[in-house]
Amino acid sequence: MRGLKYLLREEEIGFFPKWEKIFERKAPLFFEIGVGNGEFIVEMARRMKESNFIGVEVSKEVLRKALAKIEEKALTNVRLIHMEGTKALAKLFESESIDGVFLNFPDPWPKKKHKKRRLVNLAFLYLLSDRLKRGGFFQMATDHPEYAEEVYSLLKSLEGFSPLWEDYIKTSIDEFYPTKYARKWLSQGKTIYFLGIKKREKIEIPDWVKDWCPLLKIRKEETALPIVNIFKIKPKLNFLEWVAKLRGAELYKEKFLFIKVLDLFYNEESLLLDLLVEEGIIRQRFFVKLSPYGDEGYMLTPYDSDKPDPTDGVHLAMVLILKSLKEGAFYFELVKSTCKEKILNRFLGESLLEDGAGVK
Ligand SMILES: C[S@@+](CC[C@H](N)C(=O)[O-])C[C@H]1O[C@@H](n2cnc3c(N)ncnc32)[C@H](O)[C@@H]1O
Repeated sequence: MRGLKYLLREEEIGFFPKWEKIFERKAPLFFEIGVGNGEFIVEMARRMKESNFIGVEVSKEVLRKALAKIEEKALTNVRLIHMEGTKALAKLFESESIDGVFLNFPDPWPKKKHKKRRLVNLAFLYLLSDRLKRGGFFQMATDHPEYAEEVYSLLKSLEGFSPLWEDYIKTSIDEFYPTKYARKWLSQGKTIYFLGIKKREKIEIPDWVKDWCPLLKIRKEETALPIVNIFKIKPKLNFLEWVAKLRGAELYKEKFLFIKVLDLFYNEESLLLDLLVEEGIIRQRFFVKLSPYGDEGYMLTPYDSDKPDPTDGVHLAMVLILKSLKEGAFYFELVKSTCKEKILNRFLGESLLEDGAGVK
């Protein structure tokens, strides 16, 4: 595939990558969500050679075109990632680290019942406001008058920001490079609305925004910690019995969190659980492996190649599996666990914890 060297993989860069190391220089950092065929980010990177640019795009097919474009121009200050924009903002950038965020022609979701799928909402703006540096900006372009109006009202209501221009909204800006969609709408005689804010001061992210995007609850030191549980249980586990008990089981269901065991697979050695954890806007599906450990123990851990983001929901899923194993046993001892202590205590009972089990 052309331009592959400009592609970063989410599973390789993990949380809060060191952009200075990736670009091999310290420079202002700009981020574009939904790069499409890449012409905007390529043009910006060409104009601002002294800055670094990160772009994300959810469509692999479109991303391929963008990568080819970067290679064609031999730019060294751009990298692209196949990733959803909100998740990327939360996972890839530390607080107050971005100089500017661009969003050109986000999907407008014009039908009333789809409106909640729109990328820009109050929660998104809180997240964005945290990731922007003081003096950093957010600029959005849309041809959709109602979406523009909605974002305009939100921007006006946000504390800690000033309008990027004389007002929060404009219908033309001199420096804008007309992207494929801009050209399309302009040729149809449509108006393009530009919305923009500049960050003045830091705003705390409210707790409800952290429920909406649970990646925001993961502390930096937790991002690289593997989730491992070691326990002893009697009688010895009969995997066939567990397959029947857990297949399709909904382990947890409330407003912001849903955990389900989709399927199970086993052999004499180990049991694999296919898990779904839906938390706010984050949906993760991964395998968890249960296998014998030492003389009489077992280990429960996400499967080697699957590295779910260690959200509270993922920790809870592991603890709920332990809980259901414990319920069918006459002896259960948790020997070691890197699951969050508060979740272990609440769902498994404090008395099970020995020294060293559980992380704060
Ligand atoms: C209407 S197109 C605009 C493309 C480009 N920005 C332009 O102006 O030509 C919207 C693009 O955003 C991508 N997209 C939609 N939602 C996204 C999201 N949540 N995160 C990242 N990309 C997204 C789509 O795949 C599509 O390529």
